Amino acid sequence: MAHQALIAKGDIAKHVSGARLWNRLMELAQFGALPKGGVNRQALSGEEIAARACLVRWAKTIGLEPSTDAAANLFLSYRGKEPALPPVLIGSHIDSQPTGGKFDGALGVLAALESVEAIIANRVRPRRTVEIVAWMNEEGSRFAPGMMGSAVFSGARKLSDILTVRDAAGVSVESELHRLLTAEPQLRQRPFGMKPAAFLEIHIEQGPVLENKNKSVGIVTGIQGKRTFRVQVDGEEAHAGTSPRIARRDALVAAIDVVHALQNAMWDPEDVVRFTVGMFNVTPNAPSVVPARVVFSIDLRHPDVATLRKLGDAIPEVCQAARVRCDISVKELLHDPPLEFPKSIRHMIQSVAQALGVSWMNIASGAGHDARYLHYVCPTGMIFIPCRNGISHNEAESVQETHAADGTRVLAEATFTLANTI
Ligand code: GLV
Ligand code: MN
Ligand code: MN
Repeated sequence: MAHQALIAKGDIAKHVSGARLWNRLMELAQFGALPKGGVNRQALSGEEIAARACLVRWAKTIGLEPSTDAAANLFLSYRGKEPALPPVLIGSHIDSQPTGGKFDGALGVLAALESVEAIIANRVRPRRTVEIVAWMNEEGSRFAPGMMGSAVFSGARKLSDILTVRDAAGVSVESELHRLLTAEPQLRQRPFGMKPAAFLEIHIEQGPVLENKNKSVGIVTGIQGKRTFRVQVDGEEAHAGTSPRIARRDALVAAIDVVHALQNAMWDPEDVVRFTVGMFNVTPNAPSVVPARVVFSIDLRHPDVATLRKLGDAIPEVCQAARVRCDISVKELLHDPPLEFPKSIRHMIQSVAQALGVSWMNIASGAGHDARYLHYVCPTGMIFIPCRNGISHNEAESVQETHAADGTRVLAEATFTLANTI
């Protein structure tokens, strides 16, 4: 990649408006707004449909062409000089956790929009088309596992596989996709199979490193590996007042033992293993009925491929050994190995940050991102900005406007560079 000749004189970055970006972040946060300042804008919800309409409105006012696909990924295109060439994609997601913050994902989409505004303001059309993208269901809180849109786009999953996934209320991805796409009849629906020239994603760090090191941006070296499971413990309903201990098959008591055994098996004195049971559903969940069923989630992460394999492979056995008098089944939903982004893209982002005088450091991602699936199909890179106290997946999530603007200046220049040189 002959990036050097074109790199960052600041021509694009000087058109980035931190205030406009901030105002849009605050406006988008109204869709699904929660009392404590966060958002509940889960994938394919009414709130997300309304937020998409707002994005499309903003995009149209600056002449971008919106389109979507059968997985409801949303694209906003700025035509390059050679529109037949594969585009450079930039973006993230606008779905959130049920008690998410304003910036996880939304920053990546709105910084992408701001970058394109800055490119347009520079009045030099890039060679390749630049497309802003909002991937469908990154979070995986309503429909698991997450990163559905980017996985289908990249060919890692089949559309037919995600259609049958249901949320806790039994509503399928298929019916919600239908509802969403019906609400957007004006959007052209494009086929899958397009291989982008490159993908960039800016995101909040979701950890404390950049803030502690006082850096404005992180250049992401890679993403740690992740495995997710669903465990179902089956016992038997019984009367709380009459059934003696000996007769009980209490799914909740068994599930607690299983979680405890898992916690011990995954214990790591170095604190590198990330093991989380974040979802725990009890049935029938009635005060005077011995619980008959518990379904819980496991989210397991590690940066080392062999350790992740070993720990994840041990999970079914640990569950079986601790199930007491209940039945248990373990289903693996996802196994994504650790990955490293290409050095060429990382070095290009680094040169841009340096040229713009934005302080930077290399950083590994503990969180998952859509960039994972794009990495499998095109040169991909990520930029992080600091978030306050490393807090994320929490309504209290917060960033500084200057960091959001600095990260976007790096993204805008890097995007223009890629669109002209790759
Ligand atoms: C993304 O939100 C993740 O859970 O890593
Ligand atoms: Mn995210
Ligand atoms: Mn998230």
